[in-house]
This record gives sequence, C-alpha cells and structure tokens, in this order.
Amino acid sequence: MPPMTPPLCAQDYAKQARERLDPAIWAWLESGGADGITARDNRTAFEAIRLRSRVLRPMTGAHTRLQLGGATLSHPILIAPSSWHALVHPDGERATALAAAATSTPLVLSAQSGTAIEDLAALAPAPTLGFQLYALVRREDTLALATRALRAGARALVMTVDAPVNGVRNAEQRSGFALPPHIHSVHLQGLSPVAARQAPPGGSPLFDSGLLDAAPTWADIAWLREQLPGTPLWLKGILDPDDARQALDLGVDGIIVSNHGGRCLDTLPATLEALPGVARAIEGRIPILLDGGIRRGTDILKALALGAQAVLIGRPALHALAVGGAPSLAHLIQVLRGELEVAMTLTGCRTLAGIGPDVIWNACRTTCGDGVSACTGIRTPGIPGPGTG
Ligand SMILES: Cc1cc2nc3c(=O)[nH]c(=O)nc-3n(C[C@H](O)[C@H](O)[C@H](O)COP(=O)(O)O)c2cc1C
Repeated sequence: MPPMTPPLCAQDYAKQARERLDPAIWAWLESGGADGITARDNRTAFEAIRLRSRVLRPMTGAHTRLQLGGATLSHPILIAPSSWHALVHPDGERATALAAAATSTPLVLSAQSGTAIEDLAALAPAPTLGFQLYALVRREDTLALATRALRAGARALVMTVDAPVNGVRNAEQRSGFALPPHIHSVHLQGLSPVAARQAPPGGSPLFDSGLLDAAPTWADIAWLREQLPGTPLWLKGILDPDDARQALDLGVDGIIVSNHGGRCLDTLPATLEALPGVARAIEGRIPILLDGGIRRGTDILKALALGAQAVLIGRPALHALAVGGAPSLAHLIQVLRGELEVAMTLTGCRTLAGIGPDVIWNACRTTCGDGVSACTGIRTPGIPGPGTG
C-alpha cells in the first residue's frame, strides 16, 4: 500500500479516517439522522456563502483571542462533546485531552465518555474542561453528576437538550454497529437507568414506554439553575429564537446553536441557517457558540460573522484522533486556526470582534428585525431580494 500523504485539512483527516476505521464504527461516527439531510445541509449552508475580500487594510496587532465565560481563549475553536473516543483510538479521551491542552483548546467532555473526568483533569497540563450533561431520570442523579464534574475541575456545565431520544439513525443501524463490551459510559454507571415499560398491545412503543417521563423540560433546567447558582451553565441544541429567549430568561450563561451534527431530527435547518435568528433573540446578552459542519477556517469566519462567538468541532476531532491520536488532533486544530487567520487577513479583519456580516458577499443588507424571524440574513445566490425569507 502506498504511504498516506500527510493530511493538510479536515477533509483529508476524514478521508484517511474512513480508510482506517471499521465500516460500522465509521457509520456510527459519520451518520446523520434518517436520510442525512440536516447533516448534509450543515455543510452546504457554509458552502453557499461567498466572502467579501477587503484589501489594503492594516493587520498589525492582529490576533484571535477572545473572552468567553470569564476566560481568555487564544482562539475560537472548542472540541464538542462526543461519546466513546476509544472507538476510534486506543487512548480515547486521554488523547483528546492532551491535544486540547497542547493547543489551549477547551474540551467539552461528554457524559458518555469512556474516561472519567477525574482522570482527564489530572493530566498535566490539564485542558480547560467543560462537562456535558444529559438530564438523568432522577434530578438528584443529574445534580450529583454535575457536582462530581465541577469537583473534578470542570469550569462549565453544558446541558444537551436536543436529544431526549435517539434520532432515527438508519445508516448506523444498517452497519450493524454495536458498542464493544469493553467500552462504557463511565459517568453513568450506577445511576438509575430509564426503565422502559413494554407498551400494551396496540400501544405506542415510545409514548407508552415511560421513556419520555425522564425527558427533561424547562422546569428541570430552572431547577438545575437554582441548585447551582454561579456555576456557568450552557444549553446545547438550541435552534429556535423563542427557545433561546426562554433559556436567557432562566439565567443560562450561554447557548450552543446545534442540531447534534444532524444526528437527531432530520430536516432540521442547518445550524448556520438558525444562527442569525438566535443571535437576534439574544441581542448579545450571553455568548452564542455554534457547531455542525465546521470543516474550514472560512466556516469559522462565517459563523462568527453571523453571530457566534466561537465554534465547536465534533466529527473532525474524531477523524483526526482515528488517524493519529493526540498529535493529529493537535495538528488539525492548528490547521483550522491557521485557516481562520488567513481568512481574517484576506477579509481585512484584525480581531474576532471585527468579523461582522460585512465579510459576507451575499449578506442581506436590509434590517429584517425580529418581525421576519425566519430571515437568515443570507441572500441565496440566484434569488433576488433581501434574505431568504
Ligand atoms: C459520534 C458522535 C457522538 C456524539 N456524542 C455526543 C454526546 O455524547 N453529547 C452531545 O451533546 N453531543 C454529541 N454529539 C454531537 C456533537 O457534540 C456536535 O453537536 C456535532 O458533532 C457537531 O457537528 P459536526 O460533527 O459536524 O462538527 C456527537 C456527535 C458525534 C458525531
């Protein structure tokens, strides 16, 4: 077999990861929900946007630093929570954490990780950790897990709210993917599982199973907020401006515009499409992050232009891990950061704060206001008039 050429970008890592991984693990990692329309659209939304180059602007003192959640970050790239990294590399989340620490990249550890947060926090130098939670069946268990993560050094809690049930992941099902017995969600062991009831004859396998009795509601978020005053609490999986407003009213510290990488409900909009509406609802009062489809530095620039303060990468981190563990993931993050810096230079943006809608060639230049909440602020090429409506 000819030697593989060194990966130069996120898509090179994806290609090489696919060649290395067992097809069932690839299907688990890569698949979107149902027909994969949202997963695809997360990419095409970025691809549809053209950038506006600005020349001859002074770039002295340019940097990618930002303030987020009270910390100074050197760049706006975070690692999104994803389950069971040992499926793609034997060092699992330890490799991820090392790469995060080496590149000063905040890592949001999944509640479904195969490595305990205590073990990662003990790595020297420890990465900036966030911990992702799902609401558990019993509120006390959710609180106990949150408290454990905070004691172990997590600086923020990220409650994922868009996946009370698994999406219909046909590609994963067709592949026959099954979690190998040696990989566990270590944080969830010993906590009360959802005890699904057998649906009565003619009953609904979901609605009559009791599974949704444990699904979180706004009341659970309000309760958690009350239990942990002062702890940075973020919600991940918000697309709707009204949900964003409700989260803001409950006192959350930040929002992650996410559709779970298109893995939950198929035909949801791309996250980039949902972002401007959420940004209008939030009006800068709390930070907004975005994930879904980030594969290039230009994607980061576009997300920041439309209202995000920073972005997270999900699958690309797993692709890089699969190719070469911690060094590859660290390399990928440096590549994305480098691409962002090139994009900032060629659009004349010295700082992240200077990246606004004016870097977008096909931006809607009218003020749509909240009355037209569906307006993305992006004019679809070929369609005249302001916005896409
Ligand atoms: C294999 C895989 C596992 C995931 N596991 C989790 C998880 O445990 N918790 C969570 O909140 N999101 C999870 N996600 C969603 C990611 O956090 C993120 O929203 C998504 O991957 C972003 O899209 P991208 O993969 O296009 O970057 C997972 C995504 C993938 C691909």
